Amino acid sequence: MRQRIQNINLSIRKISEKASKQENIVRFDIGQPSFDTPKHVKDAARKSLENKQGYSPMLGLEELRKEISREESEKKRLELDFNEVMVTTGGMGALYAVFAARLGENDNAVFNDPCWGPYKMISEVSGNNWSQVEYWDEERKLREEAKKEIRDADLIVVNTPSNPTGYVLTEEQAREIGEFADKNNTFLVSDEVYHRLTYNKEHYSPAAYSSKSAIIGSVSKNHAMTGWRIGWVIDEEENIEQYAKVSRASTACPPRISQYAAIEALKTDSHAEEMKKEYHERRDLLINRMNDIGWDFIDPEGAIYAFPNVGEDSWKFCMKMIGKGVAMVPGEPMGPESDQNVRICFGSTTKEEIKKAFDILEKELA
Ligand SMILES: Cc1ncc(COP(=O)(O)O)c(C=O)c1O
Repeated sequence: MRQRIQNINLSIRKISEKASKQENIVRFDIGQPSFDTPKHVKDAARKSLENKQGYSPMLGLEELRKEISREESEKKRLELDFNEVMVTTGGMGALYAVFAARLGENDNAVFNDPCWGPYKMISEVSGNNWSQVEYWDEERKLREEAKKEIRDADLIVVNTPSNPTGYVLTEEQAREIGEFADKNNTFLVSDEVYHRLTYNKEHYSPAAYSSKSAIIGSVSKNHAMTGWRIGWVIDEEENIEQYAKVSRASTACPPRISQYAAIEALKTDSHAEEMKKEYHERRDLLINRMNDIGWDFIDPEGAIYAFPNVGEDSWKFCMKMIGKGVAMVPGEPMGPESDQNVRICFGSTTKEEIKKAFDILEKELA
């Protein structure tokens, strides 16, 4: 067994294992929507079963690639062609294809501190080196330490809206980091799987400001379709041809039935706005309750997470609070500066559950 695989620590599983054994618990630890996939999307999947369910083309169904290029072009003010889209097995499959195609054992990837844990895991599997640095200062400018790391790296991941903080880049930030990576020949991977979920803010893609970049997208969170496993990567056609080799060597193609569901989700998408409205209300409630406790946190401007500093060791805090009925994820595995932060997912809980959990937290922390 490869040492790097053996060294991967799935420590966060400890939280879900402990939480799932306990009755009467609010699950802020699960990073997925509380909503089910909309009925019209499920109906499209059912209808597609009338046709033969063979392999799909390696790059995905043309109709879906066209829908994706339309959605991404409209939302991100880009002019994309469907030949620049490859459909993958979730956003995860897209990230893996880009990493495996571009990075070897002598290459370096740089991630924000904090970041979504699987970037590191994908690096361990594909065998490249990685580092983490806080990208932004309080004035929303690139930090000098970050510039140094980006200059030295082969690939940078920028994630907006962010998991775990909910941070959303302004247009100036998207431009600054996109142009800086481009100028220094650092390939930019823009992870935008939460691109529809911003609250009183616009989404800007840093990929619009770099000629060497790929966009990662997915229907998982924006359309409540985590289990369908449909994502995509957008890049120049000749790069797509290379990523396709990784997909071919791992999953061959994403499931046909899920691709039909995704076409419907993108075509008829009013459900996405309805879900966003509910997330917005949950997020406002959560901000009020975190303020009442006096926690320090970045305002979640997007995605479905908040990342408060709880002023003590994040593992001890999370393990203790599961026992009291509130499950959260420790920040420590997400970055060296985050060992006193915890991730709270408000996408997976109702407003009533948020209230219940914060009544418990307030009592415990009084
Ligand atoms: C930041 C980020 N990128 C990518 C993904 C992968 O999404 P998918 O479920 O489509 O594989 C997730 C899922 O949680 C995520 O949070």
